Amino acid sequence: QEVSARLKRDFSRGLGKHSHHKAPVKMLPTFVRATPDGTEKGDFLALDLGGTNFRVLHVRVVEEQQKVLKMDSQICAIPQDMMLGTGEQLFDHIAACLSDFLVSQDLKGQTLPLGFTFSFPCEQKEIDKSILIRWTKGFNCSGVEGKDVVKLLKEAIHRRGDYDIGSVAMVNDTVGTMMSCGYRDQSCEIGMIIGTGTNACYMEEMKNVKRVEGEDGRMCINTEWGGFGDDGSLKDIQTEFDRVVDKMSINTGVHTFEKMISGMYLGEIVRLVLVKLTEDKLLFKGQSSEALKTPGRFETKFISEIEEQDNGLENAQNILTKLGLKWELVDSRVVRLVCDTISSRSARLCAAALATIANRIRVNRGLDHLKTTVGVDGTVYRKHPNFSDELKATVRLLAPECDITFLVSEDGSGKGAAMVTAVAHESPFCLC
Ligand code: BG6
Ligand code: GLC
Repeated sequence: QEVSARLKRDFSRGLGKHSHHKAPVKMLPTFVRATPDGTEKGDFLALDLGGTNFRVLHVRVVEEQQKVLKMDSQICAIPQDMMLGTGEQLFDHIAACLSDFLVSQDLKGQTLPLGFTFSFPCEQKEIDKSILIRWTKGFNCSGVEGKDVVKLLKEAIHRRGDYDIGSVAMVNDTVGTMMSCGYRDQSCEIGMIIGTGTNACYMEEMKNVKRVEGEDGRMCINTEWGGFGDDGSLKDIQTEFDRVVDKMSINTGVHTFEKMISGMYLGEIVRLVLVKLTEDKLLFKGQSSEALKTPGRFETKFISEIEEQDNGLENAQNILTKLGLKWELVDSRVVRLVCDTISSRSARLCAAALATIANRIRVNRGLDHLKTTVGVDGTVYRKHPNFSDELKATVRLLAPECDITFLVSEDGSGKGAAMVTAVAHESPFCLC
């Protein structure tokens, strides 16, 4: 409740007219004014950058009435050094992946509109002008922060000169997810990601969006809740392990909330706790291993494996053996308890944040009771055996007046990005 109350204050601060540069929770206008109504159609390209996989997609809405969607997609690897290289290298690589895909789809002669899911905080001036505020998660390419990502992409495509794209719509992955799910369920008006990073977006009343002109209707706001706590507001609940994770990260001091929750960090938090327990001789008779001492070696996916209901303990034992540790039965049980503690905390923090959004929408609309749907994606939410149950139970506790349906995005956010492109293409206001 306390976390939810603090986030509620930060939402209001972030929505203010001038405060967003300093506000820890940025509440970014997305220029998406409504969710899909099912009449969108056409032929689109989509890019999906910033999660576990970089994807290039071709999305076709074939029959309007039956909502038949056809998608082809291809995963294209982004090497680690490119994530930390120059922006030009990154965008040249993206343009090259798109080129290969167009060849494989026999689309090179066409100029198709493109939806770009770019899962980083951007200040949007319009649907096709999106300035990167800062990199988060594992990316840190030079020369991109403060620049318009659409321009960088177009420049890279023009440098090649072998194909062209039509109009571009930029969306955050939360927005793409909300729009993908909104195609199936029209009451979907929240998008949430609990994957490599964590974030959510929701439909806010235009009259509360002070940075965009106009009072009528709604606009989707990308909260960037990962930045919650960056002004020190979560100091009292951060642990010594959270502080180490922050210090060792490539973006120290920012995205505090995300570092307590998302897949990029959970495994490392568990590792640090296990190291401490071993030093205190509470695990493995005080005998550590090189692997356990190495940052990054305890992967987040181990947590899901160790918490599996039936095979969890056995999985824990196999993982501990692979990490070069000598364990007894009790050690594997303690390790499982540590995983459970860290993943539960993550689920509950997310629940507090989601409850803040649901309560806000309910109050915005003057309702005693709100029924709504949240579109969800991300490996932590999808793969962990009981994360989603714990999150749902906690949201029920914190937002008892809200009846929330959770809908896992079927094929990622690319489809949603295409939907936004479809509408932006016709008229910027026709979604109202
Ligand atoms: C994918 C979406 O399914 O999930 C991406 O298409 C999103 O847009 C991703 O970023 C989030 O999950 P993860 O675990 O890959 O970071
Ligand atoms: C990070 C990004 C945010 C994205 C989230 C989930 O928090 O800043 O834009 O939505 O990760 O991928």
